[in-house]
Amino acid sequence: MTSGLYPGLLLLLLRILPSDETCPSVCLCVADTVSCSSTGLSKLPVPLPSFSSTLDISHNYLSWLGPGSFKRMPRLENLRMSHNQLSSLGVGVFHNASSLRHLDLSSNKLQVVEQHYFQGLWRLEELLLYNNKIAQVEAGTLIGLSSLKKVYFSLNQITDFPFFSIQDHSHPFLTMLDLSSNRMSRLPWEDVKALPRLVQRGLYLHNNSLICDCSMYSVFWHWDLRGYDTLKDFTDEHTCSVFGDQRASIRFLRHSRFFHNCSVEKAHSQPVTVLLSNVLVSEGGRVRLDCQTSLSSSTELSFTWLSPSKGYITEDSINDTLISLFPNGTLEILAAKVNDSGLYVCTAMDIKQALNATREVNVTVLLPPPESFNTGYTTLLGCVVTMIFILIYLYLTPCRCSCCKQPKPPVIPVATYDPSPLTSVFCPSARDQAKVQADKRVAFMEPMLSGEGTEWTLES
Ligand SMILES: *[C@@H]1O[C@H](CO)[C@@H](O)[C@H](O)[C@H]1NC(C)=O
Ligand SMILES: *[C@@H]1O[C@H](CO)[C@@H](O)[C@H](O)[C@H]1NC(C)=O
Ligand SMILES: *[C@@H]1O[C@H](CO)[C@@H](O)[C@H](O)[C@H]1NC(C)=O
Ligand SMILES: *[C@@H]1O[C@H](CO)[C@@H](O)[C@H](O)[C@H]1NC(C)=O
Ligand SMILES: *[C@@H]1O[C@H](CO)[C@@H](O)[C@H](O)[C@H]1NC(C)=O
Ligand SMILES: *[C@@H]1O[C@H](CO)[C@@H](O)[C@H](O)[C@H]1NC(C)=O
Ligand SMILES: *[C@@H]1O[C@H](CO)[C@@H](O)[C@H](O)[C@H]1NC(C)=O
Ligand SMILES: *[C@@H]1O[C@H](CO)[C@@H](O)[C@H](O)[C@H]1NC(C)=O
Repeated sequence: MTSGLYPGLLLLLLRILPSDETCPSVCLCVADTVSCSSTGLSKLPVPLPSFSSTLDISHNYLSWLGPGSFKRMPRLENLRMSHNQLSSLGVGVFHNASSLRHLDLSSNKLQVVEQHYFQGLWRLEELLLYNNKIAQVEAGTLIGLSSLKKVYFSLNQITDFPFFSIQDHSHPFLTMLDLSSNRMSRLPWEDVKALPRLVQRGLYLHNNSLICDCSMYSVFWHWDLRGYDTLKDFTDEHTCSVFGDQRASIRFLRHSRFFHNCSVEKAHSQPVTVLLSNVLVSEGGRVRLDCQTSLSSSTELSFTWLSPSKGYITEDSINDTLISLFPNGTLEILAAKVNDSGLYVCTAMDIKQALNATREVNVTVLLPPPESFNTGYTTLLGCVVTMIFILIYLYLTPCRCSCCKQPKPPVIPVATYDPSPLTSVFCPSARDQAKVQADKRVAFMEPMLSGEGTEWTLES
């Protein structure tokens, strides 16, 4: 039995190992990385080592990739194919390469991104397609790429893009969609406004051929209001052409005069105002956080709070007597704990009009100063001591005695020279005394304060 098994196993090993695990002669294989960059390849080298997780075939002359090109590479995570001549990809190119996380197809000659290109790449996080000749992105292209974080389409010739295919549930991690330097003139702004907030924040649209109009301006106006970096970083590259005339292009983030007739507030269906505030409260204190948002309180709103320690709080979810949520959205914490500190986010929802608005409150719960009794006691003691000193001052200071016409020379200059409010209050006659004794004083002071001495002399 055993003797029959061995040759079979050996045969299998011989068949798999040498063919799959050797490094193609033109490439460099280091640990799990295979680099065939700048080697003049016009075809994929076969076989490619199945163990590699990074494959670099950039700067070559590949013009086409056939079905299942990477099917024997189940561990492939990074595939770099920038700077080739790829103009299209065969059906199922990435079949069985579902470990891919990073795919670089930039600086090629792709013209259409077909629906099937990236099928099955549900782990893909970064997709680089910039600097191709892409004019069209088919509607289903990004469907199923649910791990996507960043997609780069800039420097192409895209005229329209399937924004509607990107949704909160389909692409929960997408934070960058670069569509800058393309040829989009009119966007489906309703679809753009419906993009998940994270995608809107990371949507690059500068250097396109946008046509100036109110619906466009209103979207950018709101993004600007929210302070998105995508706009701040490329303020001057955000241009649009007046009446579609490419020669008359304006930097619309800088010059908004053209849009004076636009009603940006009304054009936008979702109020996005986020009001920020800070609240300080001592531990055990009662705190009320109101949820005043841009939504009018005259309509029927429902409120949800997201709290750092208790998660979502709605009117129905409260079973804690220390917290209440009023119908007007105000959240009350009866006895704040240090653990209650953090960012509270209230969402006001107008269900009829499908509008949301949020308000953020940063609550800081301060511990009362430690050993508060002692502090109070010390303060009290301090007061008493101060009082005693004041009394001593009042009744025992030389000022008092000076009133009894027994002036002591050293005291008088001090009172006059530094007439602090306290001394003048306590010794109202000191000044007069000083004037009376002026000649004596000058003689006394001169050796010490030569600069002032002249003044004194002039005065007297
Ligand atoms: C793809 O992978 C599956 C399972 O991992 C395997 O059964 C199938 O044969 C592979 N297909 C190809 C074309 O290698
Ligand atoms: C703007 O896009 C054009 C191509 O559409 C490109 O040649 C140019 O370099 C881009 N400019 C900037 C500043 O990105
Ligand atoms: C704005 O409206 C005024 C009057 O309604 C009109 O004269 C003007 O041309 C409009 N401006 C633009 C840029 O459309
Ligand atoms: C509130 O109710 C949830 C379940 O509905 C329970 O898990 C939680 O412990 C309750 N909290 C308090 C403070 O009673
Ligand atoms: C909401 O209602 C509570 C209780 O009636 C009240 O104390 C609070 O001031 C109200 N908040 C606002 C913003 O009107
Ligand atoms: C704060 O929370 C931690 C764990 O959640 C708990 O161990 C601690 O006792 C809490 N502190 C206060 C002051 O409630
Ligand atoms: C408003 O917020 C709720 C809860 O967070 C969410 O389910 C809903 O889709 C949001 N509606 C809009 C129009 O954003
Ligand atoms: C909230 O306020 C505290 C103290 O002022 C600060 O340290 C913290 O960074 C703030 N948090 C946020 C999210 O603004």
